[in-house]
Amino acid sequence: MHEVQLSGTPISRHVAPTALQDVLDLLAEHGASARLIAGGTDLIMELDRRVRPGVSMLIDITRLDGLSHIEHLEDGRIRIGALVTHNQVVASDLLWEHATPLAQASWEVGSPQLRNRATVVGNLVTASPANDTISPLRVLDAELTLASDGGERVVTLAEFHTGVRTSVLRPDEIVTHVTFRSLYPDERAVFVKAGNRNAQAISVVHGTISVRRSGETVTDARIALGSVAPTIVAVDSAESLLVAQPLSDDNILAAAEAAAAACKPIDDVRSSAGHRTAMIAAIVTRALETLRDAAPIRPEHPALLSPTGTSHRPGSEVDARATTDIETSVNGVPMRGTRAPGETLLDWIRDELGLTGTKEGCAEGECGACTIIVDGSAVMSCLVPASMAEGRHVTTIEGLEVDGELHPLQQAFIENAAVQCGFCIPGFLVAGASLLDEIPSPTPNQLIDAMAGNLCRCTGYYKIVDAFNQAANA
Ligand SMILES: Cc1cc2nc3c(=O)[nH]c(=O)nc-3n(C[C@H](O)[C@H](O)[C@H](O)COP(=O)(O)OP(=O)(O)OC[C@H]3O[C@@H](n4cnc5c(N)ncnc54)[C@H](O)[C@@H]3O)c2cc1C
Ligand code: FES
Ligand code: FES
Repeated sequence: MHEVQLSGTPISRHVAPTALQDVLDLLAEHGASARLIAGGTDLIMELDRRVRPGVSMLIDITRLDGLSHIEHLEDGRIRIGALVTHNQVVASDLLWEHATPLAQASWEVGSPQLRNRATVVGNLVTASPANDTISPLRVLDAELTLASDGGERVVTLAEFHTGVRTSVLRPDEIVTHVTFRSLYPDERAVFVKAGNRNAQAISVVHGTISVRRSGETVTDARIALGSVAPTIVAVDSAESLLVAQPLSDDNILAAAEAAAAACKPIDDVRSSAGHRTAMIAAIVTRALETLRDAAPIRPEHPALLSPTGTSHRPGSEVDARATTDIETSVNGVPMRGTRAPGETLLDWIRDELGLTGTKEGCAEGECGACTIIVDGSAVMSCLVPASMAEGRHVTTIEGLEVDGELHPLQQAFIENAAVQCGFCIPGFLVAGASLLDEIPSPTPNQLIDAMAGNLCRCTGYYKIVDAFNQAANA
């Protein structure tokens, strides 16, 4: 069993209010011993790695109403609520048009299952300089609205982060919204990320670069880089080299070299400092050439593995302690069981319900073996506290078969011999069934994007793709 707990202080209470004022009251009362949870994709790992000592209560904000919206304000700015997920950003025409690098950055986060739960605000609050949405929102001059029992304050994103995983957010505060400007009519901007693989990769270096031009002449330039210092770096020295000049190859090279010279990255598990420095120059060059020569790429109908891009929904209040039953519907059958508030939905499904088809491969959101559907959206169940499933509709691999008939994708996996050891297969099938519901005949790119969160250690990918093609054409 994989129980999420801290050294000597396991999570003993999971509270999910439905009113913001109740969240503020809980924060005022419990402050340092409580932690807000949205998607949980950062927090669950932090609790598991015991980097949040003293936290014994989770305040689940996913049942609050009114924080899931992306709004175009009358003054032209854009406001997104605390519960907006990366997949909602990816699905937003407004954001692709008016905040292109943010949409690109959200599209690069993890996998579809992760993006259906992980929020933009959670990405900002975790305050890792590797988190992808910080550089675009810096270029878009974002401000965060912070609320507490004592009232609201607005903090610019530039002031918000104070170091690696630290910010000015107080323990009694919640971020309710992020507000930022739209791209100017004469501005083009692009997000570029270098990782150690194409998907499911935390940035080695990422950056957002924007230029405004009058004819061929640059009138303003913004360069924000991440994963190169404790917080996101705005590289003024490189920006000023571009202004009042055309975007010539020589000027691009000079700006790229200035950006690399201005940063002092560190060695870590993902990269050496030397490699990072080289990558800074490479991504600044690539971004400026893209802005000069081509339109930033928007993916064709991106596969979300969800009808809406989010599994967060308003719902009834939860206050779960060690003895509290969870009630939920699993594969259409009402289920009830008692679990500790710190345990994951994966453990509840396997240990309490005995539905062992859902597998635990990594318990870190990396492999997709634990994929299930919650309220229509594919998610990684190893990153969802069991208490968050209260009142929700869950589908596991056991629920794909209907009236004794295998799902067409299950049948196609058998007929194409797409199974070797079989451990990854439930995850592929649940994610795959979700894809075929959303896009009945996916293109090869849509299939690759949709399955980016599912790994097969037996590496039987060709036959898996054959099975998908058969099921899609059935
Ligand atoms: C396998 C895997 C791959 C990943 N890949 C990427 C990637 O490619 N790029 C990337 O940038 N990130 C990546 N991440 C990190 C993570 O998914 C993102 O940072 C995500 O956006 C966090 O959002 P969340 O809603 O899950 O946050 P949570 O985990 O719920 O919360 C994160 C932190 O923010 C706090 N918090 C949440 N909401 C609020 C609020 N409204 N007000 C105040 N505090 C709040 C929580 O208390 C917690 O400290 C990855 C994570 C995993 C596990
Ligand atoms: S992603 Fe959940 S077990 Fe690997
Ligand atoms: S079939 Fe063995 S891990 Fe995929």
